[in-house]
This record gives sequence, structure tokens and C-alpha cells, in this order.
Amino acid sequence: MKWDVQVFDSVDSTNEEVRRQAESGAVEGLAVLAKQQTAGRGRRGRAWDSPPGNLFLSLLLRPKVTPAEAATLSFLTAVALLEALDLASVPATLTCKWPNDVLVNGAKIAGILLESRTGPDGALGWVTVGIGVNLAWHPEGTPYPVTSLAAHGITVTPEDFAPWLLARYGYWYGRWQVEGFAPVRTAWLARAQGLGQPVVVRLPDSELQGRFVALDDGGALLLELPDGRRQTVTAGDVFPAG
Ligand code: BTN
Repeated sequence: MKWDVQVFDSVDSTNEEVRRQAESGAVEGLAVLAKQQTAGRGRRGRAWDSPPGNLFLSLLLRPKVTPAEAATLSFLTAVALLEALDLASVPATLTCKWPNDVLVNGAKIAGILLESRTGPDGALGWVTVGIGVNLAWHPEGTPYPVTSLAAHGITVTPEDFAPWLLARYGYWYGRWQVEGFAPVRTAWLARAQGLGQPVVVRLPDSELQGRFVALDDGGALLLELPDGRRQTVTAGDVFPAG
């Protein structure tokens, strides 16, 4: 992949900037890097704090796949992030957590936000892959543990980190286009938190208990229930049981 990297001092949201350019016909490979965002957004409509120091990057992709297949790009993104973080030599354990968290010693260090446009015929138009990485600082008071590279004594600037991430992303995106989700899934599972272990999946108004045994072809979590049946989970938060 040949990336067209555009660096902004400040934007509302790098995902929004990519969306604007995608709607005006920008080609695959656009990578928008901003030093800060004034309206950074996270998943589930949350805000993503974006003062300078951390990485705020969005990629424009136009893969020739169905919208369901494109959803597996979140796992690809986590794998590329883990491999870019490996290059920072963090003296800690790097893992991924279903569906799309990247953790250092169990604390969230990066966020991934996929947004896409589907045409009236149901075909995928474009995908924006938004990536935030806590390099220099991390928010306080979150309901889950968070960390940054700085908290592990490592100084890496967005300008250093972006090329590492783009290189690993290009490698995995090339393989994903040719070979599909399978090799990405294998790489993701090799570093997945809780694989083979008892977990609790919290859904909006219920809970499931079981053993996290695999990911299916679409990236759904496969849970082995206490009675041996397998249940597919497509949404929810996963925690270690007990
Ligand atoms: C999450 O909630 O975990 C996802 C956070 C994604 C944040 C990144 S920062 C770069 C890109 N631009 C945004 O507005 N959001 C994503």
C-alpha cells in the first residue's frame, strides 16, 4: 500500500476529514494524521479526548468486499497496532481484547473506530479506520484501566509512530485482500486476552458465561456454554469470569 499521508495541526476529527475527502472522491490510501482534534470521537457516541501528544490517525480504504467482510478490518487494525507497539519495545505484555481493544498489561492504550459508507445497492463504498494511541498521556477517571507509552517510560512521538503503524497496516491489508480474514484471525488469536478461558459477556440487559473458544469467519466471538453448546456473540463487553 502506498499511503498518501496528510498532516494537520488541528482538525475536528481525522475520521471526519477522511469522510469529507472520501465523499469528494479521494482514493484508497489517504492517511490523515492530526496533532490534535477538536471533536475527536470514540465508539458508542463517546468523545475521544484529543489534546496534542497522542496519535490521531485515520485511513481511507476502498476494499472490494461486502460490508460484513469489511467489519473484520477492526481485527486487522488491532494486529497492526500490536506489531507497531512491539517496535516501541514496551517492557510489558501487549494483548488484544474482543472486539477491538489493544491492551498493555491489561490497560487500554489504543482505540479503533471504523466508519463506512454503503451505497443504495448495499455495496461498500469506503471505510474509514480511525486509530487513537495514547503515546504521551492517557485520560483519567475512565471506568476501565487505561495507560500510555509515557506511563511505561517510553517517549515516542506521533511522527515516529505513524510510519511504524502504516508499514504494519500495509503488510496486513495486502494479505487480507488476497487471503481474506483467516491469517489476520490467527495473528489476533495468538495475542487475544482470555482465549480458552472462562469469561463473562455483558450484554445491555443480560450476561452470558462460557469459555472463549474461537472467532468465527465474521469476527464474532464463539463461546462454549456450560452445557457444551456453542453461542455466537456479536456485541457485548468481555471480562474474565470469577
Ligand atoms: C474507542 O472508543 O475506543 C475508539 C476511539 C477512536 C479514536 C480515534 S482518534 C483518530 C480517529 N478520529 C476520531 O475522531 N476518532 C478516531
